[in-house]
Amino acid sequence: MKVVIPGGSGQVGTILARAFHRDGHRVAVLSRDPRPAPWRSTRWDGATLGRWIEQVDGSDVVVNLAGRSVDCRYGAANRRSILESRLDTTRLVGQAIAAARRPPGVWLQASTATIYAHRYDAPNDEQDGILGGEEPEAPATWRFSTDVAKAWEAAAEEPHLPATRKVLLRSAMTMSPDRGGVFDRLLNLVKVGLGGRAGNGRQYVSWIHEEDFVRAVYWLIGCQVSGPVNLSAPNPLPNADFMRELRKAWGIGWGLPATEWMLTLGAFFLRTETELILKSRRVVPRRLVEDGFRFRYPAWEEAALELCDRVRLGRQPRSAVRRA
Ligand SMILES: NC(=O)c1ccc[n+]([C@@H]2O[C@H](COP(=O)([O-])OP(=O)(O)OC[C@H]3O[C@@H](n4cnc5c(N)ncnc54)[C@H](OP(=O)(O)O)[C@@H]3O)[C@@H](O)[C@H]2O)c1
Repeated sequence: MKVVIPGGSGQVGTILARAFHRDGHRVAVLSRDPRPAPWRSTRWDGATLGRWIEQVDGSDVVVNLAGRSVDCRYGAANRRSILESRLDTTRLVGQAIAAARRPPGVWLQASTATIYAHRYDAPNDEQDGILGGEEPEAPATWRFSTDVAKAWEAAAEEPHLPATRKVLLRSAMTMSPDRGGVFDRLLNLVKVGLGGRAGNGRQYVSWIHEEDFVRAVYWLIGCQVSGPVNLSAPNPLPNADFMRELRKAWGIGWGLPATEWMLTLGAFFLRTETELILKSRRVVPRRLVEDGFRFRYPAWEEAALELCDRVRLGRQPRSAVRRA
């Protein structure tokens, strides 16, 4: 099949492009700055229709991942760019699909598990989960993120595309050993003895192993599900436990805990936000599980061990198709 991935040059896009390419599918990444890759990389500007729509016309699947990274300070300019880059590119992808003579059968649109409320009491699924924004204890920056997520999904819902099934990927943090990814950054903290709990450590961490992420994307291409789908392992766990398992998997017994004020200070100097680490993201994949999807890495303990093993050995994941 042919898969087009706008914004596919980043962490998640590289995981997907690598897997599709390895499994023999045709991949076209749309990038504002195409770099040499084993798959096709086509220029777009993320703002206007152009020659790139030829990639969409006749494709089977579009996976739109484009959007300015949220790993930054939420000042006014960054907020604007986080929001606009998501809405503009999503609308643009919708226009390209609407204009296609042979539109793709499936549009998988990135969203985020951050759309759900900060909570400890119960997990958020697609049916009974509470969307964020109204939590009394949530700072304004957290509300900004949920507002972005809601607007992002609404932008994907806008166009009427009778021939294209739309799926909104409410993804948790995708864990892969790739340099610069979230797992790499957490493991680096563990390696230097800073891998203790963050804040009070009660906040839930939702995560998904890259192999399950790829398998779930294949699943969503092949099934008939549409609308929001949580892409997260079925067992989110409190940050203190999450970090303990990661330390164990790497073979380090202890990690310095970081208090909230240390994180606030650290986030300021690292030009990021504490939301990424302190918000309780308790998200479970109800729709995938009810549809019959089975996770290869449902528990963090095994996922962390496998990822750490691969960091040590420098190996790539096995093919999702061969292992499905
Ligand atoms: N990583 C995760 O675990 C995770 C979890 C939940 C949700 N998500 C969401 O999933 C998507 C992909 O995640 P990721 O980690 O792969 O993100 P990423 O590494 O930041 O990649 C996103 C890509 O979007 C493109 N982009 C950035 N600003 C843009 C703009 N103004 N206009 C058009 N394109 C722009 C960039 O491609 P070029 O520079 O090549 O154009 C970039 O490589 C993101 O939207 C993210 O919010 C990710």
